[in-house]
Amino acid sequence: MARLSWEKVLQDLCFGAGDVLMRYFGRRHQIEEKPGAGIVTEADKAAESHILKQIFKKFPESSIITEETGEYDGASPLLWVVDPLDGTSNYAHGFPWFCVSIGIYEGKNPLAGGIYHPVLKEFYFAEKGKGSYLNGKRISVSACNQLSRALLGTGFYYSKKKQLAQEIKIFQKMNEVSQAVRRPGSAALDLASVACGRFDGFWERGLSSWDVAAGILIVEEAGGKISNYAGGTTDMFSREIVASNKKVHKELIKVIAN
Ligand code: IPD
Ligand code: CA
Ligand code: CA
Repeated sequence: MARLSWEKVLQDLCFGAGDVLMRYFGRRHQIEEKPGAGIVTEADKAAESHILKQIFKKFPESSIITEETGEYDGASPLLWVVDPLDGTSNYAHGFPWFCVSIGIYEGKNPLAGGIYHPVLKEFYFAEKGKGSYLNGKRISVSACNQLSRALLGTGFYYSKKKQLAQEIKIFQKMNEVSQAVRRPGSAALDLASVACGRFDGFWERGLSSWDVAAGILIVEEAGGKISNYAGGTTDMFSREIVASNKKVHKELIKVIAN
């Protein structure tokens, strides 16, 4: 039997969902509010339904965590963590910065991750121990070793009451000490941007497993570092993340701590 290619599996899933998103993009959307969790459009649901159907067809016993329809328990150790549309607010306003993000785990261990930006047609992929790739070409994090020269990314979660003031303080300080800070609106693409060296660092609080499941592996396999706000180990369920090219990591953590 031919060896299973996670790259091909994730590419098919991401490209299929990306086609669904592009079909609806730029049209008038049916927008629903999710209390404390932003909005959802008909495109999020259609892309998720496409991904679920394909996973269940090819890997019927899988467990799946999805943003829009919740959790599915299966008998196999394979766990898929799916954000069918990361950057929904951008998408709903016609701002072309959004993606599909899918991580594959075996129990707690990441196997592979794929992130697809359907407007730029950029497909990021990583497999544990085998490196990170953008459209098939190996990528690595940047060489920047000073925060004062770094381009950083961040984001602010939807629940505006708790901790927003503290996040804004960190945002202000990072602006003072780095070259510049961006807030593009898709955490998965922020992580992909660290992996390919466009960003030197990224931090955000309040993210969910589906926002970071693929991106964590893509950053690590590109030679980057992932931690929590204190600089310690983290995983996709930790709800706070700092990602960097390793070289500016300590400086990032110091700014967050102060
Ligand atoms: C959101 C985006 C955004 C981040 C939010 C996420 P969604 O995901 O990743 O950049 O700041 O915290 O919830 O809702 O567009 O899938
Ligand atoms: Ca998301
Ligand atoms: Ca989403």
